[in-house]
Amino acid sequence: MPQQELRELYIDELKDLYNAENQLVKALPKMAKAANSDELRNGFEEHLEQTKGHVQRLEQIFEMLGESPKGKKCKGMEGLIEEGSEMIEEDFEGSVRDAGLIGAAQRVEHYEIAGYGTVKAFAETLGETEHVSLIKQTLQEEKETDEKLTELAEQINSQATSEAEQGEGEDARSSKKLTTAGKSKKRVA
Ligand SMILES: [Fe+2]
Repeated sequence: MPQQELRELYIDELKDLYNAENQLVKALPKMAKAANSDELRNGFEEHLEQTKGHVQRLEQIFEMLGESPKGKKCKGMEGLIEEGSEMIEEDFEGSVRDAGLIGAAQRVEHYEIAGYGTVKAFAETLGETEHVSLIKQTLQEEKETDEKLTELAEQINSQATSEAEQGEGEDARSSKKLTTAGKSKKRVA
């Protein structure tokens, strides 16, 4: 492949990631708000701060390239965020909702890991060593976030199972309360 074409493709992929990260900056506060567990909410809030840093690293790369980061819409991220919003709108409560949110968040992480893996390989081929080191830092943070989510899922999934068992024995009044709480969250999201 001619170097110039690979460079164009590289810039295209970076623009896609830039748009994806910016979409995520908007979506993560909604996911944090919808989270039931404090740990999960903190995790989303922490990742929001990291994500802002990912946007900045991409801006640094674009500056070095002398290109604008704008001009692409990441349809993949749009779809993943859409699915995350659908999860928030579902009637799942408590740990079950959290388990669903983790599933949506991990899809996002895996998508980003794939995207950054691609641009890292392109940057290496193009000899852009400074870009490679910036991309590696972001890639590492995405992987760590994914691992943290896996650990959280182990706790939350077992809570979700016991809540579901308890729920079967609960009276109608308390389950109605849960539903109402979920609905108010829905409106906020
Ligand atoms: Fe990111």
